[in-house]
Amino acid sequence: MIRKCLFPVAGYGTRFLPATKSMPKEMLPIVNKPLVQYGVEESIEAGLKEIALVTGRGKRAIADHFDISFELEKQIAGSSKESYLKSIRKVLDEGTFMMTRQREMKGLGHAILTGECLIGNEAFGVILSDDLCVNCDDDGVMAQMVKLYKQFRCSIVAIQEVPMENIEKYGVIAGDDMGDGLFRVKAMVEKPKPEDAPSNLAVIGRYILTPDIFDILRDTPPGKNGEVQLTDALMTQAQNGCVLAYKFRGRRFDCGSVPGFIEATNYVYENIYVDGEG
Ligand code: UTP
Repeated sequence: MIRKCLFPVAGYGTRFLPATKSMPKEMLPIVNKPLVQYGVEESIEAGLKEIALVTGRGKRAIADHFDISFELEKQIAGSSKESYLKSIRKVLDEGTFMMTRQREMKGLGHAILTGECLIGNEAFGVILSDDLCVNCDDDGVMAQMVKLYKQFRCSIVAIQEVPMENIEKYGVIAGDDMGDGLFRVKAMVEKPKPEDAPSNLAVIGRYILTPDIFDILRDTPPGKNGEVQLTDALMTQAQNGCVLAYKFRGRRFDCGSVPGFIEATNYVYENIYVDGEG
């Protein structure tokens, strides 16, 4: 039903300079696994096994990560070190990978429009891998959203309550409460000042989008910071039809910021990491 998941991974990652000068932000490891691999595992777990990467200059390491490393495989074949490759081998067995390049970094909305050639005319997931989402004993966030899509068949954004002093970092929604953590979106504002924010419900990096979003993005003029904002396109979609916002079960770490990255590292080390396994 939904088969594909788009990963916009072309951003500069300036908040992690100088680490991200020649290395993609998405390859920064949380303990022993790059951020983007956590996102791809969440996607595959949700049944979205066709992974569409929108990359850019300097991001080749991501493409190499989702391929075999022949010399390495040969070198450690039959040794105890093979266990370190367990998770990436599983991802490579189960997923297929396709890539296109965003030549100019004109924002998230533009990155998603760039991925149209990989998605075509079908609904798809979007994962921003710098938002690490974990839900150890239950469905991952994308799996939760896929279940909702089967029921409602419209675009869905994941939301989280955030303190008002941080609201300026997010897209923020106002909506009608439908119960069970679901809201029908009435308004959406990108990075509002606390006094202008319509609520404390912030959009985080998980979406399911219906393919009409591409035409809307094409007609969306650059907004805040001169970038094509996905938030603006979703607002149009909400006005024309329906967009749902979903307060997911689980935890989310903003690994695009240094404090969030450190918090995620400690959490994964204490709760998820298995010594001797990749
Ligand atoms: P961010 O807002 O986190 O930007 O993008 P960034 O460039 O990655 O990081 P900073 O702010 O400079 O530190 C959110 C997501 O959208 C992707 C990024 O790769 C990230 O996953 N993105 C953003 C693109 O793919 N292309 C763009 O033009 C902008």
